[in-house]
Amino acid sequence: MFGKRTGDQSAPRKPAPAPATAPKAVARPDASEEQVATKAPSPAPEPVRETAPPMEPAANNSNGRSEDYYDVKTTVFNALIDTIDLTQLAKLEPAAAREEIRDIVSEIIQIKNVVMSIAEQEELLEDICNDVLGYGPLEPLLARDDIADIMVNGAERTFIEVDGKVTLSKIRFADNAQFMNICQRIVSQVGRRVDESSPICDARLPDGSRVNVIAPPLAIDGPCLTIRKFKKDRLKLQQLEKFGSISPAGRRILEIIGRVRCNIVVSGGTGSGKTTLLNCMSAPIDQDERIITCEDSAELQLQQPHVVRLETRPPNLEGEGTITMRDLVKNCLRMRPERIIVGEVRGPEAFDLLQAMNTGHDASMGTLHANSPREAISRMESMIMMGGYTLPTNTIREMITGSVDIIVQAARLRDGSRKITHITEVVGMEEEVVTLQNILVYEILGQDENTGKIIGRHRSTGISRPRFWDRAEYYGEHHALAEALASSEVADSDGAVMGD
Ligand SMILES: Nc1ncnc2c1ncn2[C@@H]1O[C@H](COP(=O)(O)OP(=O)(O)OP(=O)(O)O)[C@@H](O)[C@H]1O
Ligand SMILES: [Mg+2]
Repeated sequence: MFGKRTGDQSAPRKPAPAPATAPKAVARPDASEEQVATKAPSPAPEPVRETAPPMEPAANNSNGRSEDYYDVKTTVFNALIDTIDLTQLAKLEPAAAREEIRDIVSEIIQIKNVVMSIAEQEELLEDICNDVLGYGPLEPLLARDDIADIMVNGAERTFIEVDGKVTLSKIRFADNAQFMNICQRIVSQVGRRVDESSPICDARLPDGSRVNVIAPPLAIDGPCLTIRKFKKDRLKLQQLEKFGSISPAGRRILEIIGRVRCNIVVSGGTGSGKTTLLNCMSAPIDQDERIITCEDSAELQLQQPHVVRLETRPPNLEGEGTITMRDLVKNCLRMRPERIIVGEVRGPEAFDLLQAMNTGHDASMGTLHANSPREAISRMESMIMMGGYTLPTNTIREMITGSVDIIVQAARLRDGSRKITHITEVVGMEEEVVTLQNILVYEILGQDENTGKIIGRHRSTGISRPRFWDRAEYYGEHHALAEALASSEVADSDGAVMGD
């Protein structure tokens, strides 16, 4: 094949340059230095030896790697690009292509007399393979399962979220051009393009991770890439209970709510765990139900067999062909759904979802961005108004109360932990106000001085007959519900049960 000293030269190596001038030593790394020298016209020039800077005296920059490392990498990388034919390389199996690159890079390192240890050489090899074949410096981050989010703010700064905490990683790109190339590679997989003329792009990695790119001139200080890593082992309610995101009794209440076909809105701030919660809440759904999901970027992983997944479509390069969430929700009403799940309600589709909830598609679910159940109600109101409906506010509120049964509020607390802070019922209207009733709340009691972890507890508010009691009775879940509610009650120091 190629990249071997004696191998076939046809591809993917570029043809050796005509030896009219002294050939670059790396143009054919398979040729020995003597061979290169004898091919050169007389008088034979010294074989070109671009000695790359040694790695040793490196002053580490703030990101952990030395400037010299990047200099060496750039030199070797450029030599590699001169040597190989990338289109031919792309035709190879990834493992074979990686092997070829490793061979050539090793030769370049030798020829260029780069002084580096075996370990450094390995690191460089890996790094360059990632650049040529994969997502460059992002590869090691993408390979880690413990990372929730990757946030790249230009070539120099990459932040990651691990265990709820956001930290600056050691990852760095050579420059913004390399970084943009990688962004381009990511979005081209879903047939999109990102550049100055279309500087905003959503995409998905092959593993399902959600990607957003925003480039200059909109991003003033350089391109920004945000990746919500796809969790292969999706979290289940048991795990949320184990992490303390919900109490055991709270978990049982959530399961019952799902089982008795309440209409549920999961509300929360950005990255608070809404999608995860929606996934968890879908677990108790019966296997024989026809579920239709509508999402901007398909993230939900429902386990039921009868699921139809729909995804919105952004406009094409001519600005045409948009399929909005509203189009999807309206269409799925014609698809005989038994449940509609909307990944995230952001706009006028709120009207269609509420209407679906109101007209026989109970047990539907959706998430929205809001910081409290009360705010979730006003968000729904304003989203409906955004759709240009000239309905009186009261009518909209009545529609909300008639449709939504439960609001589950998720939050990311200041210590990075994610909690379900409220399970709240939409009870009805009092005059012009939508009345809400908390069933379970998370109460913050303090903070551990050593770990900084927030200390708190989930407690019931003393409601023993929630509005969905009749439903629970109908589905035979009322005893379990009564038990879960009773065991969530917390007695205060006087022994009295506390309520809201
Ligand atoms: N209870 C939890 N405990 C620990 N990690 C969690 C919990 N819930 C969610 N996560 C993790 O937090 C990250 C964000 O979760 P998720 O995507 O569900 O949030 P989101 O609110 O839907 O975010 P966005 O607003 O960006 O859509 C994911 O990596 C997820 O695995
Ligand atoms: Mg989400």
